[in-house]
Amino acid sequence: MADITFPHALPRHIAFIMDGNGRWATRAGLPRLKGHAAGMDVLHGLCDECLGLGIPCLTFYAFSTENWSRPWDEVAGIFNLLEVYFQRELKNLMAKGIRVQFIGDHSEESRLSAETRSMMERVEAATKGNTAMTVTVALNYGGREEILRAAQRLVESHTPLTAETLAAALDTCGLPDPDLIIRTGGEQRLSNFLLWQSSYAELYFSPLAWPEFGAAALREALADYAGRQRRFGGLVPDKDKAVAQA
Ligand code: FPP
Repeated sequence: MADITFPHALPRHIAFIMDGNGRWATRAGLPRLKGHAAGMDVLHGLCDECLGLGIPCLTFYAFSTENWSRPWDEVAGIFNLLEVYFQRELKNLMAKGIRVQFIGDHSEESRLSAETRSMMERVEAATKGNTAMTVTVALNYGGREEILRAAQRLVESHTPLTAETLAAALDTCGLPDPDLIIRTGGEQRLSNFLLWQSSYAELYFSPLAWPEFGAAALREALADYAGRQRRFGGLVPDKDKAVAQA
């Protein structure tokens, strides 16, 4: 198994698609919302593990632009859990030096409630100066919608459209692209998550439901990542040179 203790073998940015909460709850004979609550309980341990390893950026896909199509009580329940979570966790985030930022459409015209928007502003403002780790929460987020909003902004400001200007107009401006995207719950797709930013991300799919994905499962994913050969469309310096010369 690859050694994850070499700093170069660790991702700088891991993005998580936290799938399988509902199925986990149903299997346990619980309402789906209990699955989302259990999904929040694992965040703490994962952040601590990554802090310990020195991984500086984590992104969590908490609510997509498509998730509004779920039953209203589940949608309202998720937002309620999020508000309670950040109210409860703010002290811990400050103590650990974790900066929290939100990506997605958070405009006044969005479907987010005034309470959710004000919670987000409060958490972002309070944690703004923290430098140990940046946790990005994708809320009312869709990759296509993010790219469209960015392109619209560039057109409206008469800025030339280039890969650089577009990347800088995305919600993730300032964050490195994810090196590793982990999706739990057994499905193998991106579901409109970080479409621009994931061009060269390594993908890791776990059969575990998100509430089951703890520090041990994360280490397994990191060991798998450490064994990947990342070429970014190029060649592996020594090995491919030898083959080319042969
Ligand atoms: C997908 O599982 C999960 C969600 C739509 C919501 C996940 C959100 C959280 C756990 C909250 C995260 C909070 C923070 C602070 C980052 P699913 O309901 O689609 O599961 P299923 O596929 O089994 O039905």
